[in-house]
Amino acid sequence: MGKSSDIKLITDGKRIDGRKPNELRPVKIKAGVLERADGSAYVEVGGTHAIAAVYGPRTLHPRHLVNAQKAVLRTKYDMAPFSVDDRKRPGPDRRSIEISKVTREALEPVIFLEQYKKTGIDVFIEILQSDGGTRVAGITAASVALADAGIAMRDLVAACAAGKVDDTVVLDLCGKEDNFGQADMPIAYAPNEDKITLLQMDGDFTEEEFETALKYALDGTKRIYELQKKALKERYEKNE
Ligand code: CDP
Repeated sequence: MGKSSDIKLITDGKRIDGRKPNELRPVKIKAGVLERADGSAYVEVGGTHAIAAVYGPRTLHPRHLVNAQKAVLRTKYDMAPFSVDDRKRPGPDRRSIEISKVTREALEPVIFLEQYKKTGIDVFIEILQSDGGTRVAGITAASVALADAGIAMRDLVAACAAGKVDDTVVLDLCGKEDNFGQADMPIAYAPNEDKITLLQMDGDFTEEEFETALKYALDGTKRIYELQKKALKERYEKNE
C-alpha cells in the first residue's frame, strides 16, 4: 500500500479505469487449456492473466511425505519474469512462498482429499501478466483446474479482492490501485459451502468499511463463481 496522496484514484465517483466502486474488471475463464496436465485453466481479470495446471492424484515423491489418510495437496505460485514492468527475478521468493501457502489453505477445505489416500495432487499457478490481484486470480484458476482434473470437490473456490482507494471502498483493485491505495483485502469463498477459505488484509479499514468491502468481495466472488461453472460446462459440452 502506497500513500493515497501520490496519485488521484477516484474522480467524480469513477476509478482510474472508469469503473464504479463495486465493479469487477472484465473476467474471462477457460477450462482445459493444457494438454499434458490432468486439469488446467486460464483466467483473465483485466490485465492480470493466470494459468493453472493440476497433476494428480499421483504417486507422491519424496515418499516420506505420503499420508496414509489423505492426499497431500501441494501448490506452487509463480510470477513469470515478464509479467511485470520491472523484470521479476525468476524463482521463489518470500512473497511467492507465502502466496503458495495461502493458496493451498484456500483450496484444501473443498477437496475430498481423503478419497485419494497416499497420493499427491500438485497445483502449479503461473502469473503471465500482472496487474493487481494475482493471488486471487491464481486461486480462481486453480479451483477450475482441479475440477477439470476430475478431482472430487465439495465446491469451487472463487476469489477476488476488495480494498480502499481515496477513502472509497472498491472491488477488484488493479495494479495502480493496489500500489497507491489504502487497503487491499483478498478473499476466497466457496459459495455452496458458504465458507471463506482465505481472508488477508493489507492496510486499514474502519469497521464500516470492512463490512462494505466484505460485501463487495463476496458479491464479486459469486459473479466469478458463475463464470467458473460456465467455463467447466463449456469444456464438458465440447468433449461430448
Ligand atoms: O497480486 P496480489 O495483489 O495478490 O499480491 P500483492 O503482493 O499485493 O501484489 C500486488 C501487485 O504488485 C501485483 O499484482 C503486481 O502487479 C505488483 N507486483 C510487482 O509489480 N512486482 C512484484 N515483484 C510483485 C508484485
